[in-house]
Amino acid sequence: MPLGDRAGAEPGQPGSASIAHYLAQLLREIAASPPGPPLSTVYVGGGTPSLLAPQQLRQLLAALRHRFGIAPGAELSLELDPASFDEARLEGYLAAGITRVSLGVQSFDDAVLEQLGRRHRRADALQAAAWLRAAQGRGQLASWSLDLIQALPGQTLAAWRQQLRQAIALEPPHLSIYDLILEPGTVFERLERRGQLDLPEHDLAADLQECTVRTVAAAGYGHYEVSNYARPGHASRHNRVYWSGAGWWGFGLGATAAPWGRRQARPRTREAYGAWLAQQLDPPNGPAAADPAPGPGVPFDERVLVGLRRREGVALEALAAAAGVGAEALAALRAAWRPYRKAGVLLQEGPRWRLSDPEGLALSNAVLRELMGWWADWGPPEAADPPPSP
Ligand SMILES: C[S@@+](CC[C@H](N)C(=O)[O-])C[C@H]1O[C@@H](n2cnc3c(N)ncnc32)[C@H](O)[C@@H]1O
Repeated sequence: MPLGDRAGAEPGQPGSASIAHYLAQLLREIAASPPGPPLSTVYVGGGTPSLLAPQQLRQLLAALRHRFGIAPGAELSLELDPASFDEARLEGYLAAGITRVSLGVQSFDDAVLEQLGRRHRRADALQAAAWLRAAQGRGQLASWSLDLIQALPGQTLAAWRQQLRQAIALEPPHLSIYDLILEPGTVFERLERRGQLDLPEHDLAADLQECTVRTVAAAGYGHYEVSNYARPGHASRHNRVYWSGAGWWGFGLGATAAPWGRRQARPRTREAYGAWLAQQLDPPNGPAAADPAPGPGVPFDERVLVGLRRREGVALEALAAAAGVGAEALAALRAAWRPYRKAGVLLQEGPRWRLSDPEGLALSNAVLRELMGWWADWGPPEAADPPPSP
């Protein structure tokens, strides 16, 4: 939704009608949701939720409060795009109850931001970070995170180290540093298919990750998940709920929910989401619960994949028993992982298996690829489809 810089979804602004319409759909979906216990975390992510005016965010939080209740001390997170808010708007979000912000910086290099198709520039990111740090200093904001993307085309070790130092110098209490994923249908994916994307080779990609782990650790951040680093007390509670396999609600375009451990995904396009919602809420034979028949449980491989990304790893055998994975299959997985155990990348400590830090977390993709290969062989027939990216 193209809006002028720092503009919002104020009436009369380009795209505001479409934002208002989508918000109305979201509020209907939430209102029709089955009931559940008070929410201990809320994550408003996107797209670009910071295109919502503070008043609209208030409506969204009020709808959740009305349907489920929000537990005292809950973590209410909002993703912010550096070019979509100013200090007054931030104040509005904080007054609406937001306690944690995730700032989508991605890079401090203007040429890279242009290549990524991002609207913001380095100056916007520095300004936005200054506002967040000040709000935290005033006690209005409990925590904030800064996102960077690693292993971007043409990235060098020296330039990357500079990016990390810039991010650390802004003093975010939380850092998320993601390896670039080539999403289907994106410009990058098309360029890669044409062999026109200068992505870092495997060794450089491993060096970039190792540099990240060492540089961020040296700055005093704890490494609590493959892509996530936090100062004490600033780990994301919401993401931890997701990674722990506990149930979560999801509402809106492309959202995935697993309130009772059974995953349900919403359509990713406006049209399909509108049609799905109409089908759920206004079926010819009268209103029904918003959610379709519960889908499959969260598969074993996804539980292990997401669990191994966390510092504490997984209780592999217990998960296997709960998922009905047989002894022969489990033995095959252990055999596939034996080289990583020998190399000290994968550790078994009593019932728990975890990646060592930093080597294991740096090589996580290799270990997790083994898991996915094994699951394709030993998992149920439908296991051939790769699990969604976390
Ligand atoms: C995963 S959420 C951020 C969660 C946040 N870090 C937190 O702690 O609450 C959105 C972030 O995903 C990352 N991202 C989006 N598309 C990506 C891609 N194709 N490859 C890698 N990272 C991507 C960007 O850094 C974006 O800001």
